[in-house]
Amino acid sequence: MRSKHFRDKSASKDKLVTKYESQSAYAESFRYIRANIDFAGIDQEYKSIMITSPDPDSGKSLISANLAITYAALEKKTLLIDLDLRKPTVHKIFPECYSSYGLTGLLQDIVKVEEAIVSANVPNLSVLPVGIVPTDPAALINSAKMTALFNELYAEYDRIIIDTPPIMAVSDAQTIASWVDGTILIIRNNYTKQDNAKKALQKLEVAGTKVIGTIFNNTQMKMNAYYYGNK
Ligand SMILES: Nc1ncnc2c1ncn2[C@@H]1O[C@H](COP(=O)(O)OP(=O)(O)OP(=O)(O)O)[C@@H](O)[C@H]1O
Ligand SMILES: [Mg+2]
Repeated sequence: MRSKHFRDKSASKDKLVTKYESQSAYAESFRYIRANIDFAGIDQEYKSIMITSPDPDSGKSLISANLAITYAALEKKTLLIDLDLRKPTVHKIFPECYSSYGLTGLLQDIVKVEEAIVSANVPNLSVLPVGIVPTDPAALINSAKMTALFNELYAEYDRIIIDTPPIMAVSDAQTIASWVDGTILIIRNNYTKQDNAKKALQKLEVAGTKVIGTIFNNTQMKMNAYYYGNK
């Protein structure tokens, strides 16, 4: 649903419905998505979840941020990682988490993990922002240091939500998909081409990730901002 909450690109407050309007129908949609993820993972918990989409501008970052808040509200120790190293936005959605070090500073050994990760103004939620945008994002994503860091964080947090670039544009999301427990594919209504959605699913299959489900974003439906479907 096109909602007044999401219109202004600059207003982080309007994007975080789960924080600022936690009793709204929009926030309830995120609790519904969380419940579906947890239900789908009843036998094998989805502790690390990647959010991606076939094309850009589909709501990945906004959904990652609100989903992370929704898990943190359950008193899960939650980490939101910005792995869109080409166009990072998580620090804009959570301005209190801006850092000039972040992930890139950490991987360059400029800071330690506890300095790179920043607490959001939300109980139980930490953020790993990108920091300085790297010149070769693919090399960084594919590095052994990156996977070692992911494994370290995986052991430390109850939930890890990862924001990624669009899967059809660059290979980063496909690489990240091979580390995580599950992936959620965002399909933007009246925007994502069916062919791209199919190709994105094929790429995720090749990566060997479990596609937990699909979120149809930006629908014209009146009652629900999001419709979530398990595969
Ligand atoms: N359901 C929605 N209704 C209206 N606007 C939305 C909705 N979902 C996302 N938006 C808006 O669309 C824009 C793109 O969203 P977002 O940045 O989350 O997409 P993205 O997939 O992360 O984009 P990119 O591929 O550039 O990283 C933002 O301004 C966001 O607030
Ligand atoms: Mg984004």
